[in-house]
Amino acid sequence: MLRVATAFGVIVLAGLATAHAFEKTYDPLRKLRVEQMSPADPQNGAQIREGAALYAEYCAACHGGALEGAENWQDNNEDGTYKPPPHDDSGHTWHHSDKVLFEYVKLGGEKLFEDYPDIISAMPGFGDSLSDDEIWSVLAFIKASWSEEMRASQEMASKYDPLPDEYRPSLNSTGIAE
Ligand code: HEC
Repeated sequence: MLRVATAFGVIVLAGLATAHAFEKTYDPLRKLRVEQMSPADPQNGAQIREGAALYAEYCAACHGGALEGAENWQDNNEDGTYKPPPHDDSGHTWHHSDKVLFEYVKLGGEKLFEDYPDIISAMPGFGDSLSDDEIWSVLAFIKASWSEEMRASQEMASKYDPLPDEYRPSLNSTGIAE
């Protein structure tokens, strides 16, 4: 039994060593690795700085300069619309996958909920004013305000609701070397 296990270990190690040597010239796992990463990276300083400026310009008027949301945001307006919720830990932005957050900001609530006529959304779409990369930067800035627990929870939500390829920035703009 021990010999079988040892032989198996040697095969696995040999396989890894070959894969490593191979990766130096050609990296077939690169696309897979990129797919594991969120395009909105709360550790990426440049992305967060760009996102902060865009947030101040496009989002703060409704969602608050410090991501705090509208006053009494949990009470709906009289016409049945929602008030802008906070984007920090106290809200529910972190409940949603990257896919949902990206669609919410790019398409707006009306488009997102077009099959749910009961939901009257007051969240505008920014697809005409922000590029996809800019939307990811705003989301990176929002994520940077979250605690570890909320980040982990949102990462899990994203894992179970995968991002379509066309929502991803090109592989070259991810900062992963060719
Ligand atoms: C005109 C006011 C307004 C502006 C400007 C605005 N939002 Fe919103 N947003 C809302 C409202 C109201 C909601 C509540 C949900 C709804 O009505 O669909 C919302 C909801 C959201 C949600 C969903 C949150 C959740 O937990 O369900 C996200 C994400 C979001 N906004 C991001 C943004 C970002 C990013 C910007 C700036 C690019 C922005 N919003 C600008 C009004 C606004």
